[in-house]
Amino acid sequence: MLCRLILELAAASLDFISTIALLMGVMDQFCWTNTDTILSEKEALGNNNSARGYDVVGNIKSALENACPGIVSCADILAVASKESVSLAGGPEWDVPLGRRDSLTANRTLANENLPGPQSTLEILKFRFSVVGLDTNDLVALSGAHTFGRAQCRTFKDRLYDFNSTGVPDETLNTTLLSTLRTICPQTGNDSTITNLDQTTPDEFDNAYYSNLQVEKGLLQSDQVLFSTPDADTAPIVNNFSNNQDAFFDSFVTSMIRMGNLSPLTGTAGEIRLNCSLVNSDILRLKSDSLVSSI
Ligand code: HEM
Repeated sequence: MLCRLILELAAASLDFISTIALLMGVMDQFCWTNTDTILSEKEALGNNNSARGYDVVGNIKSALENACPGIVSCADILAVASKESVSLAGGPEWDVPLGRRDSLTANRTLANENLPGPQSTLEILKFRFSVVGLDTNDLVALSGAHTFGRAQCRTFKDRLYDFNSTGVPDETLNTTLLSTLRTICPQTGNDSTITNLDQTTPDEFDNAYYSNLQVEKGLLQSDQVLFSTPDADTAPIVNNFSNNQDAFFDSFVTSMIRMGNLSPLTGTAGEIRLNCSLVNSDILRLKSDSLVSSI
């Protein structure tokens, strides 16, 4: 109970944007530091340089390990932190089932295979979601997390100058937004500069993400395709969420719970990581390597 309380309090004080970003990818399978044998998900293509909240989660983990060692998994920290992040920003609230354990095997190859990239077409997005058991409604609802947060120029720059190697910008990008984004992200340089994902209410968890899509103001290609792909079955869902914030919130909660329950590790499966950056066997290996080299 004490651990749960500390977890809730710590998560409630988080920077909501950076923590929910960590949900991208497979929630209970992450590994943030490279060792000789395990390349971390933090550096997977879809996550590269996007991990602006890892130190915060690391701090929560340290506090928990000091108070109740080996009890609360990194996967549960992420799940609770994400929930708190959303409600702090004005979004819906929900109960997070706890008791997940951390993966022993997460690595960069896995993350690269499973994470859809920002240049994904609708077909690819649907495919990537379907292979983990999430449907089209989940895709549209969960993409609504881009109602807050930032993205680096590198993740959408192709849309501004040379979309799909055509030599011209993406025609589904609003021309006023195009001009603004070109000043933030010149053709060369500034790849790591960040800008708002939601052009209307960048720090609020609301349904403006969907009304932005209706006027071609989605920042990432993977956002805009939900509305602009010809004959897309996702477009009516976008319209519904744009008209009805409650419908969006209800679907978002349902999909977050579904995503959080995808093949969770429980019982004796996996482990409780001592450090969210490393699987425990790597911590032991790194310790014994440094012991040997110091002899
Ligand atoms: C549908 C597939 C998705 C793609 C292709 C995608 C892609 C991206 C990219 C490229 C960024 C910018 C990263 C950076 O430049 O640092 C980003 C940011 C973000 N994503 Fe996603 N994402 C997807 C789904 C999700 C989901 C399911 C969630 C949560 C439920 C989510 C939450 C966020 C948040 C909160 C940010 C802002 C991060 C920050 O400000 O640090 N995304 N996403």
